[in-house]
Amino acid sequence: MAEYSYFGPIAELVSMDALPLKGAIQENALGLLTRQGVLARNGMIQEIGEHEKLLPFAKKAGAEIHIFDTPLVALPGLIDCHTHICFSGSRARDYALRNAGSTYLEIAKAGGGIWDTVTRTRQASEGELIRGITTRVGKHISQGVTTIEVKSGYGLTTEEELKMLRAIRKAGDSVPADLISTCLAAHMLPRDYAGSSKEYLEMLGNELLPRITEEGLSKRVDAFVEEGAFSPSDILPYLEKAKGLGFEITVHADQFTTGGSQVAIDCQALSADHLEASTSKEVSALAQSDVVAVALPGASLGLGCGFTPARALLDAGASLAIASDHNPGSAPMGQLLTQAAILGAREKLTTPEVFAGITFRAAAALNLSDRGILRKGMLTDMVLFPTNDHREILYHQGSLQPVYTIKKGKIVYSKPEA
Ligand code: NIG
Ligand code: FE
Repeated sequence: MAEYSYFGPIAELVSMDALPLKGAIQENALGLLTRQGVLARNGMIQEIGEHEKLLPFAKKAGAEIHIFDTPLVALPGLIDCHTHICFSGSRARDYALRNAGSTYLEIAKAGGGIWDTVTRTRQASEGELIRGITTRVGKHISQGVTTIEVKSGYGLTTEEELKMLRAIRKAGDSVPADLISTCLAAHMLPRDYAGSSKEYLEMLGNELLPRITEEGLSKRVDAFVEEGAFSPSDILPYLEKAKGLGFEITVHADQFTTGGSQVAIDCQALSADHLEASTSKEVSALAQSDVVAVALPGASLGLGCGFTPARALLDAGASLAIASDHNPGSAPMGQLLTQAAILGAREKLTTPEVFAGITFRAAAALNLSDRGILRKGMLTDMVLFPTNDHREILYHQGSLQPVYTIKKGKIVYSKPEA
């Protein structure tokens, strides 16, 4: 039997419908609907319409009715298209060292950095990893995030990468958000690997990726293209191999030095993420491609470095998503909305450009066509903020917290005092 639920009245509904996938969006481009109701059927949006008209239908259909007696603004459930929330340990020491003058790459070379987290993550059991993911996902849901990409990449052996991906899958089975897993075994050359980068990547392609497919653990492959990680010429054959095995590609690109974004373009990746070091050359190449540029302001804030040239990317015609990069090293904060708002203020992004970056453009970076927009037929993933003016959301830079997060037509978070 169909399961219906109804939510209304919603003072202002920001549907994000009919906006372009690429390029700049004017401040006044948002189609705002007032005093709306949303009727969900089996988790999908069955109807959006005027509250007074839709409510009787909802009642007739036997829907579970949720009436709001304070003004609320609805956005599509937020999508965090780049995180590393499967890990163990803390890198507070790295953070302090960086602020005392050491660089990210220096700390990595001295045994800190990603390798430190690899050591701790290898020591953790699958159960411990699941608990860590579950706790972090809970925080993201309370911020209105309903879809979260989660990378492996702190295992760096076949068995340890599989352990991480299994933990992500099992955590995903029990949390009320969708977790989209990505294999990031090409995060760095493991220090204990007795071979070259080329040999490590060949091993991943021949051994790990087929096991991931066999177990149905992930459809996505990511790689860190950077000095101290993998060079463009080493990584391209690996990514081509992954594509041949049916994986979708995403790339950690142009974080400290350029080169990665061209790799993403060459292998028709879904997204190129970071781009803090991108120059006008990379910006225009990305804009001419179908690769979604993903800004990670949390990494800029965590490392105390410059932001992705988001304004330039949009003006050149690129698609721009914004993600938290939540990880123990460069981006420990994990507050997507705060970070997106700060990027917007710094880079002079319009309200719809920021909202697009954490809704439908983030969905495009994950190749998901069923979310990121509030429209009939889409998932009823929604976040409700306690205001009647959508501009209040970014204005408060994340401190205006959602009262409700709705996932597939169900309230999965309500603010304690709500
Ligand atoms: O996206 N840049 C490489 N990878 C992560 C950092 C991971 C870590 O420092 O543990 C990032 O910033
Ligand atoms: Fe990352």
